[in-house]
Amino acid sequence: MRRIVISVLFFCTITAGVFSQTREVIEVETNDLSMIFSASRNESVVFHYWGNKFSKSSAFKNNGFREHPDANQDAASQLYPAYGGKLFLNPALRITHNDGVLTTELVYAGSEKKSLDANRVETIIRLKDKLYPIFVDVHFVAYQKENIICQSVTVLNEEKKSISIENFASSYIPLHAQSYYLTHFHGTWAAEMQMKEEKLTPGIKVIESKKEVRTTQSESPSFLLALNGPAQENTGEVYAGSLAWSGNFALSFEFDERGVLNILGGMNPFASTYHLQPKQKLQTPEMVLTYSSNGKGQISRNFHDWSRKYALQHGDKIRPIILNSWEGAYFNFDEKILTDMMDNAANFGIEMFVLDDGWFGNKYPRNGDNAGLGDWQVNQKKLPHGIGYLADHAVSKGLKFGIWIEPEMVNPESELARKHPEWVVKSGKRDILPIRNQWLLDLSNPQVQDFVFNTFDQVVSMSPNISYIKWDANRHVDNVGSEYLSKENQTHFWYDYVKGLYSVYDRIRAKYPDIEIQLCSSGGGRLDFGALKYHDEFWPSDNTNPLNRIFIQYGSNTFFPAIATAAHVSTSPNHQTGMMLPLKFRFDVAMSGRLGMELQPKDIVGDDYEFARNAIKDYKHIRPIVQFGDLYRIISPYDENGWSSLMYVSKDKKQAVYFAYSLKYHDRTTFFENKLNGLDPNKNYKITELNIKSGHHAFNEDVKIFNGDYLMKVGIGVNLGNPFESAVLLVEED
Ligand code: GLA
Repeated sequence: MRRIVISVLFFCTITAGVFSQTREVIEVETNDLSMIFSASRNESVVFHYWGNKFSKSSAFKNNGFREHPDANQDAASQLYPAYGGKLFLNPALRITHNDGVLTTELVYAGSEKKSLDANRVETIIRLKDKLYPIFVDVHFVAYQKENIICQSVTVLNEEKKSISIENFASSYIPLHAQSYYLTHFHGTWAAEMQMKEEKLTPGIKVIESKKEVRTTQSESPSFLLALNGPAQENTGEVYAGSLAWSGNFALSFEFDERGVLNILGGMNPFASTYHLQPKQKLQTPEMVLTYSSNGKGQISRNFHDWSRKYALQHGDKIRPIILNSWEGAYFNFDEKILTDMMDNAANFGIEMFVLDDGWFGNKYPRNGDNAGLGDWQVNQKKLPHGIGYLADHAVSKGLKFGIWIEPEMVNPESELARKHPEWVVKSGKRDILPIRNQWLLDLSNPQVQDFVFNTFDQVVSMSPNISYIKWDANRHVDNVGSEYLSKENQTHFWYDYVKGLYSVYDRIRAKYPDIEIQLCSSGGGRLDFGALKYHDEFWPSDNTNPLNRIFIQYGSNTFFPAIATAAHVSTSPNHQTGMMLPLKFRFDVAMSGRLGMELQPKDIVGDDYEFARNAIKDYKHIRPIVQFGDLYRIISPYDENGWSSLMYVSKDKKQAVYFAYSLKYHDRTTFFENKLNGLDPNKNYKITELNIKSGHHAFNEDVKIFNGDYLMKVGIGVNLGNPFESAVLLVEED
């Protein structure tokens, strides 16, 4: 990042040729990182630096800045570039003023800094247009301990009439290096968060979604950007961002003619013109930013620490082990089938039973995905004694009880669709296109917001023993349009839908602060920090096949922590892929997240029964390490050698748990050698293998006690030669 400073000085020499100490230096700092800007009244604010903190905070002030006399020079990188002046890059902000003028020139109007609490410092840099009464505030909240900076922007219209906001990014980051490597995460249903890394070339690379709902099924608004080489685990400079927004987004990486990489992130401007009335304010979502000079491992640990504290519900509470009914029963159940599942689950040591789809609808019963959505009354035929009876049964067996809803959606075959056709998202008189036989309700409409809130409220009120909700959303937006919004404001749909959703979540959380909620959208279709903050966990994918899950969890856990990663053992052959994989492998993968099961528990018999019971018992022992510990990825499944391993290390470094997986046949190389990471070099550790199946030990060294330094420098070998062998090792201070 030193280079960006040099570039600023160089260009300013050409344009100004003067040295000045008069510019105000504005620093946004965490314990280890800082972003540095300089400003003079009525000139543009210059973006100088984002990276490790200087040893002396005054380093910039003492070295001085070349003064930048003209706010609109294209040379220096601005804090927040608007379209206007000499800007030739994609703008962060583009406004059409009421008189038709297309340009905006933002200059400095002041700044303020305040401590929100012992860990959070807020900085606001105020900008205004040179000519028009348009005020733009760039907000930063710096989380000291977690080394996270959240950036968002508000725009206030003080013009006499409305203005049209065309582009409105949350953040702009300029970088300068020899080369740039972008890591982004793409996917589809049952294959979410697949990692791709590419070297950027001049031009613009855009990662975006126009799906509004299920946005992250195809692309994720979370990225890594490594300088001067591909991102490494423990070395090298890596920048990262994750947009906290559950709608259309765009991340653009513009490699410009100066060799600067200009990163813009925010809502997608696609068909989204927002008409801002006089005195009205509009706010962007937050971009969550971090940086590491020690590779992407530290990036993940920053995001995880921050999420547990600030971007997740109940991030300090251990998660229960769940049996979810979906793959075990689908729509085909009655009371007996469900209570039997609960009885069996309790025998395994499971702690919560979740009743998935299929429990509601009477006139249009939900016996398949073609009917009933919207009619949230218990199906009398299947469940004559109601939900209370099931929840009470669960509790009598020592289990908590949870239930599935999909309140944003409606099947055409439902009472709701007949009663409120005006609530459905549709494009004028065009056909409404179903996806999974369902339509989307228009959450830009406050009546629909009330309906969705009331649905949640009524479902939870069915029994005081409901302590968990699985919130699903199984379609995205096409043929967009709202009967509620005026014809001029149809383009507000994208913004207003997400705001409508968040206002429902806010109401739910105000009334139900304790209930656990799972974030699900056909799997990981809504995996972003905007939605996650209202939830306890997410369902990363409908693909429960452990081989695929290793990759999906690798991608998801780059940003989102294990405590929130629902990982369920399902049956074999796997329902999504048809693959037959050992029960041990299935458990060993699921135990690296929030363990659960997604099958008919009565089908686990013989040796498998004891194995599963023991694994669940052992998970209870290791789960504080997995759920609250630091993640160290050791070997990536994307490496070509066909192995993968990771560890979680407790914050006090007294305990760790290591997971290793073989993904292919390894000829005569049967030992998978690993140098462990994150341990205390001065502690001695005892290693115990867990989940041993049929006497086959993967870790069969004679010595079981090792020095931490040895484990990190020499490492260990695990015997995993065959495909889909795996190992779980508990590493505890001796
Ligand atoms: C989605 C979810 C699944 C399940 C089904 C029910 O696909 O991702 O876990 O809940 O819906 O219809």
